[in-house]
Amino acid sequence: MHNTFRKIAESFSKKYYLLPSLYGRGLGVGLLMWFCLGYSYADTPLTIEGTVTKDISKQNTSSSYVVFSTPLNMLEGSNLILKTARYTYIQCPVTGEGRIDIYSGGERTYIGDKDKKSPDWSKFKGDVHIWPYKDLSASNGFYGLMWMHNGKTFNPDAAFKDMAEGKANSTLATSKVTLHKGATLAAESGTRGIRIGHLDTEEGSQIYGYAKAKSGNSSYYVLGYSDDDAVLAGRISPVDDNMDTQVGIVKEGLGTYRITGNKNIINGGIRVLAGRVLINNDVAEAKTKKLTGGTGTSNAVGLNIMKDAIGGGTGNIAATTNVYGILQPGDDGIGTLAIADYAKNQDVTLILRPTARIDCEIASVESYDKVEVEGSVSYYNIDQDFSVSEQKPRLRIQLTKDADLHEGDEFVLLSAKGKTAYQDVTWDFNVIYPKAYSWKVEQQLTDEGFKVVARVTSLAYSGQDDIEDKDEEQTSEEYVLPDLAEEKQNATPLREYAEKESAFIGTCVPVWKINVDNDNESRSALIAKEYNMVVCENEMKFDVVEPSQGSFSFNDGDRLVNFAKRHNMRVRGHTLAWHSQVPSWLTSDGTKNTNNFTRKQLLDILHNHIKNVVTHWKGKVAEWDVANEVLSDNQQTIYSNPNGYDLRPSVWATGIGEDFLDSAFVWAHKYDPDAILILNDYGVEAKGWGKSEALYNLAMRLRNSNIPIHGVGLQAHMDACFNYASAIDANIARFKDTGFECRITELDLGIDDKSEENLQKQALGFYSMAHIAMKHDNCKSLLIWGLSDDLTWRTGRNPLLFNSNLTKKPAYWGVHAALRESVDVEETSITPQILTPNLSTPTPYNLLGQRVKTLEKGRIYIVNGKKYIH
Ligand code: XIL
Repeated sequence: MHNTFRKIAESFSKKYYLLPSLYGRGLGVGLLMWFCLGYSYADTPLTIEGTVTKDISKQNTSSSYVVFSTPLNMLEGSNLILKTARYTYIQCPVTGEGRIDIYSGGERTYIGDKDKKSPDWSKFKGDVHIWPYKDLSASNGFYGLMWMHNGKTFNPDAAFKDMAEGKANSTLATSKVTLHKGATLAAESGTRGIRIGHLDTEEGSQIYGYAKAKSGNSSYYVLGYSDDDAVLAGRISPVDDNMDTQVGIVKEGLGTYRITGNKNIINGGIRVLAGRVLINNDVAEAKTKKLTGGTGTSNAVGLNIMKDAIGGGTGNIAATTNVYGILQPGDDGIGTLAIADYAKNQDVTLILRPTARIDCEIASVESYDKVEVEGSVSYYNIDQDFSVSEQKPRLRIQLTKDADLHEGDEFVLLSAKGKTAYQDVTWDFNVIYPKAYSWKVEQQLTDEGFKVVARVTSLAYSGQDDIEDKDEEQTSEEYVLPDLAEEKQNATPLREYAEKESAFIGTCVPVWKINVDNDNESRSALIAKEYNMVVCENEMKFDVVEPSQGSFSFNDGDRLVNFAKRHNMRVRGHTLAWHSQVPSWLTSDGTKNTNNFTRKQLLDILHNHIKNVVTHWKGKVAEWDVANEVLSDNQQTIYSNPNGYDLRPSVWATGIGEDFLDSAFVWAHKYDPDAILILNDYGVEAKGWGKSEALYNLAMRLRNSNIPIHGVGLQAHMDACFNYASAIDANIARFKDTGFECRITELDLGIDDKSEENLQKQALGFYSMAHIAMKHDNCKSLLIWGLSDDLTWRTGRNPLLFNSNLTKKPAYWGVHAALRESVDVEETSITPQILTPNLSTPTPYNLLGQRVKTLEKGRIYIVNGKKYIH
């Protein structure tokens, strides 16, 4: 049967695709194929009832993948057994429940299609089992599933944001997945996120990151969405244990994940965002055999227990452990947690943050929770959102229900080689006592190390009060979109408002698509009417301006500069030093120093470029993005080094070293002392993200080195549903406090489709961003990355203010409302009605459109669309 099927398929096409893709070629073939496979013919979707085996395995090659794309509807109790080939694209959408067993025929069984897109299984609530399938060949590398990435990269330090924005492959986000012995999970190359609702792995299974031992690839498995408990008993490590590629775990959801493997190398780190992760490897075995244990050894990236989460267990954690949430030695019962690296026998640091708490349970002198640190315990007074805090970590003593203690009983709850602090801040634990007995807790620092010893001094309850066990509450204000119907009555162009505010509202211009020499061209005319700032989308980038070494081409840039001059607009310059859009004479891919230039040669190239470009547009380009996207996405480094940052590899950073930045700013300043010089990046918009912190640290470092840097650019390529407006606000405020300018340089807000709901969300997003920019004197400059939805680099995301036919979207009116309101705040001459609005209903807003919780005397608020003074 199999051979017949194969012949038919092969006779059809060399690069054949299985199943519905063939239907298009003739119903007869479709019928025949289903018949051959043992199924009745079904138009889309195919309903699976009872147990059905589908064998699409065959020996094919990398140039002829088997594509499985029939939409499946799984009925209750159904079981699809899918035997796959070594080169398979599983791209079928699936709905329903039941169970799917994937027998993987080899290393290239992809979840996703050849365009890197993953199929929609979001309405499938069933179980998935992944098995190795070796019937056809027993040597196809590894056997399991590889994840496609939808062309998206994933930043684990902004995991919530990236998941909300669909930057992880979420095909199995609602499924319960079991990885069986001998099976493997892997990902496509790059920095990738893989979201799995529930994952159990059996001993003898394997989780890799990128499937090949090629440096620079990082894969993060985001686990726990379905809120239940699971066990990761298989091995987790980069392929071939190659430390140049990374594999990491991000835990979400309320459940507990227990990691029991004893040879793991989770070198991309474990981030516990919510719920619990317990490291329960066999410590005795790890000690005697010098094993890497549950986490694996690593110097930089370790276990991060975030504010709402719990981490701990009965095993050993061999990597730097950062606690913002709760550290819990033991599992549900009593146990000892070792922070120790037995494989390398090197010290491991336990870093406690202001909100950290260690929970120790006591049953008796023989049985109580302990933390034993083979290294030091350190206090970092920097909170999860990177604010400095005075709060000290807490140690909570709890008693088991049947605890039976005696006077004089002593408990060494924590022991370490030393006690340190970031910037030598003095600290002690705040102890939270149980409501029984009287206690004395000593925090002893001696030559032998640091110990926290609790002693029962009396059987009577002393009434030792609990310390106030509350974290500071975070309030965040949200923006509320005003009535846009009213706004639409107002035809004032955006720039008129901006000009009243001495602010800039702008767009990037694709000079190769819009004839900026012709002021009557509809798009040129619209730009001139609405905006008072422009930037070249591509025409001032290195590859355009210096296509061959030493020969410069300024023509298209000049055209936009002239256009701007005719219409009294400010021009931003983008960009001088970047790893992208660089000519091949300089580097083949932006990153590698392919032509083996020496450091001196590269410095000369950069110098000559900046000299020519900045001089050419001196006095015409008001500000330059001197350096663009120089920071690496992964800024894990700042968890152990609060002033740190990591640079992205680029021909500049690699070939010259970090000081290419210093030089670039110095030269830009030299050739145009009046230009504002900006360090521009993405993923740096909100306070609390690792990369935002890195941007701040790098800006400070440059300034402290007396480098002429004036400010930072926040690109703001985001999705409309973003919910961190107040964190962006806080970020800009922080730069203002230290005297830096800020620019919103490339704002666009993607939506999945143009439904009314999404258009409104997008309007709110733009409204919030425009308000935030106008609110801060150091940031009155908002540039949108493109004019209309047909002119966006984010294809299909409709992220701009105008439709392709140049009609105004709700997003336009959102910006309009925000700019108008900013002017109104300044200009308001009304005598507001004096009234004390009722705080609960209706809701009061401030003049920036933000909902307010507490009213201040003498301020103006909007209630039910009317202004009141409180
Ligand atoms: C984009 C342009 O919009 C595209 O036309 C081009 O093909 C690639 O670059 N960050 C930046 C911008 O700094 O220069 C990029 O612009 C978008 C991301």
